[in-house]
Amino acid sequence: MSDKVILKYDGKELELAVSTGSMDEKAIDVSSLRGATGLITMDPGYKNTGACESKITFLDGEEGKLSYRGYPIEQLAEKSSFVEVMYLLIKGHLPTQPELDKFVADINEHNYVSEDLIKILDAFPSSAHPMGVLASLTSALSAFNPKCVNVNSEEDLYRAAVTLLGKFPVLASWCQRKTKGLPVNYSNDQLGYVENFYQLLFKKPGQELAMNPVVVDALDKLFILHADHEQNCSTSTVRLVGSSHAGLFASISSGISALWGPLHGGANQAVIEMLEAIKNDGGDVQKWIDKAKDKNDPFRLMGFGHRVYKNFDPRARIIKVACDNILEQLGIDDPILEIAKGLEKAALEDEYFVERKLYPNVDFYSGIIYKALDIPTEMFTVMFAVGRLPGWIAQWKEMRETNQPIGRPRQLYTGEPDRDYVPVENR
Ligand code: CMC
Repeated sequence: MSDKVILKYDGKELELAVSTGSMDEKAIDVSSLRGATGLITMDPGYKNTGACESKITFLDGEEGKLSYRGYPIEQLAEKSSFVEVMYLLIKGHLPTQPELDKFVADINEHNYVSEDLIKILDAFPSSAHPMGVLASLTSALSAFNPKCVNVNSEEDLYRAAVTLLGKFPVLASWCQRKTKGLPVNYSNDQLGYVENFYQLLFKKPGQELAMNPVVVDALDKLFILHADHEQNCSTSTVRLVGSSHAGLFASISSGISALWGPLHGGANQAVIEMLEAIKNDGGDVQKWIDKAKDKNDPFRLMGFGHRVYKNFDPRARIIKVACDNILEQLGIDDPILEIAKGLEKAALEDEYFVERKLYPNVDFYSGIIYKALDIPTEMFTVMFAVGRLPGWIAQWKEMRETNQPIGRPRQLYTGEPDRDYVPVENR
């Protein structure tokens, strides 16, 4: 296959190199295009645009394949742990036992947050959406940890990563406790990362919290499945903000805001709200399918469709099985699950969804699991953020290490042509 593309324009020919990724993906290098021809490429939503090279995550949307650092998501979800996956994403290899022990100890060094930050938390109304609170508190971390990261120092980058990995679950738990009017909780070094997060969320003052291994396993699996997903909206935001050399905490805070939207991570909350609405409306799934197909109705089937997956989302496949197991093991009989199954079946048999290759995505089932684990609906996207954090960090780190230039897209101006200013009395 040719390793170049010839572009003919205005009587001239331009040769554009074709690069090949390690999984045989091809990309046309258009970096010389504007200089040579004056043209730019137009690609709203970046549907055909690669913004970087990356060694972290591979995704094949046609085949429904996902791997982190070469390891298939199915194997990681079954055999690995969230902490190990964090290490894998950030450092590039699976840790040895001593490396893993050190990583855990280094994260634990930072699993507290300055008490002064509670004053900021207190200033939010308890009705505030936890994602807004989380984005603000994460950004505020910069003020409490002002030391700049020397991106040429592996040690400095590692320190920044473990600092944020330690503090983030504490902040995320504060967001939930705030909505419930509970006092903030403190980390317990004797517990694993996910168990500690669980007790940060749920432990009441003066109460022993019984840790259910089914719940801990479910959270661990969900976090692994959410840990990275290459250049999605929030990750691209983290990279774009970081490309101006803004700090790690500020960049991640922007990623949290991007994740919040219902077309991205916010879909997990939207799915449950949609399923509840269908239940309260009498449970007629076909009515809602028709609504989603109606081009005059802005409603979309939440938890369906994906920018890259045009085949089943492999994460949804794993979550669907996990969801059935967890509900069974916890003895939960949730009518929402039946509605979800009915909706999925009807959509998968419907020509509109088949033609457009719209399958359930990761958010379709994750909300049902979070609901079974007693996580409040508004916290679902915060849970996504806790899972996605190592991916954001790994991508930010890679972006800085590879000296990515500042992100600055072009545009095609379609506004007024040049015109003279008219004084107000003459308008
Ligand atoms: N319900 C009904 N129609 C849909 C849906 C949906 N969920 N998703 C896409 N379509 C239709 C869309 O109307 C369009 O139809 P037409 O060709 O007739 O104009 C066609 O399918 C292609 O859609 P698109 O908007 O061009 O596709 P996109 O790649 O820009 O959007 C998406 C991808 C995920 C934003 C979209 O599928 C969607 O809005 N889904 C619902 C929200 C959701 O579940 N988001 C979570 C995504 S996965 C996890 C994550 O990223 O956090």
